[in-house]
Amino acid sequence: MRVEPMKLEVQAVGKRYRGGLWALEEFTLDLGPGVHGLLGPNGAGKSTLMRILATISRPTEGCVLWDGTDVTRSPEPLRRVLGYLPQAFGVYPQLSAVEFLRYIAAVKGLDAAVANRRIEALLSLVNLTDVGRRRLGGFSGGMRQRVGIAQALLNDPRLLIVDEPTAGLDPEERVRFRNLLAELAADRVVLLSTHIVGDVEAVAESIALIHRGRLVCHAPPEELMRAVAGRVWTWVVASSSLAEVRREYRVTGAVRRSDGVQLRVVADTPPHGSAQVVSPNLEDAYLDHLARARTDRVSPPA
Ligand SMILES: Nc1ncnc2c1ncn2[C@@H]1O[C@H](COP(=O)(O)OP(=O)(O)O)[C@@H](O)[C@H]1O
Ligand SMILES: [Mg+2]
Repeated sequence: MRVEPMKLEVQAVGKRYRGGLWALEEFTLDLGPGVHGLLGPNGAGKSTLMRILATISRPTEGCVLWDGTDVTRSPEPLRRVLGYLPQAFGVYPQLSAVEFLRYIAAVKGLDAAVANRRIEALLSLVNLTDVGRRRLGGFSGGMRQRVGIAQALLNDPRLLIVDEPTAGLDPEERVRFRNLLAELAADRVVLLSTHIVGDVEAVAESIALIHRGRLVCHAPPEELMRAVAGRVWTWVVASSSLAEVRREYRVTGAVRRSDGVQLRVVADTPPHGSAQVVSPNLEDAYLDHLARARTDRVSPPA
């Protein structure tokens, strides 16, 4: 039985890179067991936050606590229970999956006999048993990502951090990867970053929206969607008026049909006489929250 509380607390973290840019500002977030999505556009600060959580980068301000220990001062307790799949995950093409995982296990200081047993189990978990002896150079993007997850799981981590793990995966591999994360989340804290709503829609029990280094909101997906309920509209416009509608409204979807384009729009009042309210999806909620974060940040005229 595990008795650790498994609690990750990010407290008012700021990160300023050389050159003056604040990649994170006043970032505060509490996470417990389960899959959590870190969702935001490119450049929002996701990788910056994840590198800080993985203790390979230090915050300029604020601190990070793992089960109450400040890991910016003493990273060891977190490092022992950490699994990390960086965004740019490189493998050695000459090595086989098994050789690569043995190598990483050795670097992590794991006992060789324990590691070998664990590698067999992990290859089976990520569905690579049959190709474990083949060279990584011949692996597809999806297979490499699964090797990446396997290496992150070598020490049976309590905190698993995966940075844009679905980039380069085909739709089927995405689904498989999502299911794998959901399986893994039972007794660990899993934080997955992505700029793609679909990656977190089905698996994340909470979603932290990040925009320009700031937390926009942190809530279960249902709650994010409730915030746009009654404000998502759909109707069909002629293709020729699409550009005009896009200028005027927050368009979250557009599907071509024989009679024009069926639009989804988030708006407080009906955008058109024939517009019908539809139930929101996470994409509507995401785009609306982001758009609000953008306008909130515009400084008032002097
Ligand atoms: N090593 C670095 N030095 C300077 N600026 C950086 C560095 N890494 C990231 N940035 C900047 O910090 C911001 C956040 O980047 P990043 O954390 O990579 O965002 P994301 O992962 O959400 O795409 C961006 O403006 C990026 O250009
Ligand atoms: Mg990134």
